[in-house]
Amino acid sequence: MVSDITDKEFNMIKDIMYENTGVRLKPSKKPLVMARLRKRLEELGCNRFGDYINVLNENEKREMVFFVDAITTNETYFFRHTKQFNYLYEKVFPELSRNGIRCQGNPVKIWSAACSSGEEPYSIAICAREYFKESFGSKVKIFASDVNTKVLSQAQKGVFSKRSVREVPKPSMDKYFRLSEKNERIQTEFFQIREDIVKSVKFSKHNLLKVFPEDNFDIIFIRNAMIYFDESSKLKVITNILRALAPHGYLFISLSENLNEARDRVLMVAPGVYKRV
Ligand SMILES: C[S@@+](CC[C@H](N)C(=O)[O-])C[C@H]1O[C@@H](n2cnc3c(N)ncnc32)[C@H](O)[C@@H]1O
Repeated sequence: MVSDITDKEFNMIKDIMYENTGVRLKPSKKPLVMARLRKRLEELGCNRFGDYINVLNENEKREMVFFVDAITTNETYFFRHTKQFNYLYEKVFPELSRNGIRCQGNPVKIWSAACSSGEEPYSIAICAREYFKESFGSKVKIFASDVNTKVLSQAQKGVFSKRSVREVPKPSMDKYFRLSEKNERIQTEFFQIREDIVKSVKFSKHNLLKVFPEDNFDIIFIRNAMIYFDESSKLKVITNILRALAPHGYLFISLSENLNEARDRVLMVAPGVYKRV
């Protein structure tokens, strides 16, 4: 039986999370942290959160993966903030093609920087497939990363719940998804996304506090992740993101986020869409 987390233990967990991901856990997250870690403590035979903190300190590298996977918030769905995908299709792809910035041999480089279970990069891939048609495989290169290994392996399978695809327009649903399974117990359907879309995205584990190994991106999406960072981690993350963005590049953030300190380095062109200046 695992005993409830004490304030002292919660503060230690909070610090470990912050040091490793930049995510600042608010005191209101205490019940959530307890609920998400309880099963792991039971698996390891820890009765107290203090024992688990010792495990984390002793087996830092190995246990940190489980810890981060359990604590991060991964809510996402296809075509979240649909208008931004319209902007990508109607304005950004035509501009990049028109200027011949990338399309003379070099593909358009896109990075979904906190991709969770893949709905965001696959939404980008569907837009690109619609825009570039059959040549999309050679015209775009999509990278997607997250610090959570569990969501990354989910993403690579390309299977999504009915809830995840709720905003996918019917024509795209028919064209890019097929019914994969119907779970009678939980009364929900799962959909498999088309193989060429799965293959078009290169997934990798990456912590946004570090420098991404690729750069010169034409387009970067970093949406609904910065809300979990405090100002200091956010600054580090934005600095790393802007470093990876090409001089003419576009940056997509969520409508509930802002760029604060970096505002003078980008120009807002649509809600949540910025162009580097
Ligand atoms: C709420 S999801 C957003 C998913 C998607 N971008 C969207 O807008 O629908 C936030 C993601 O940020 C990831 N994340 C949190 N801290 C991170 C870090 N330091 N480095 C990389 N990813 C991180 C989480 O694992 C989670 O999958």
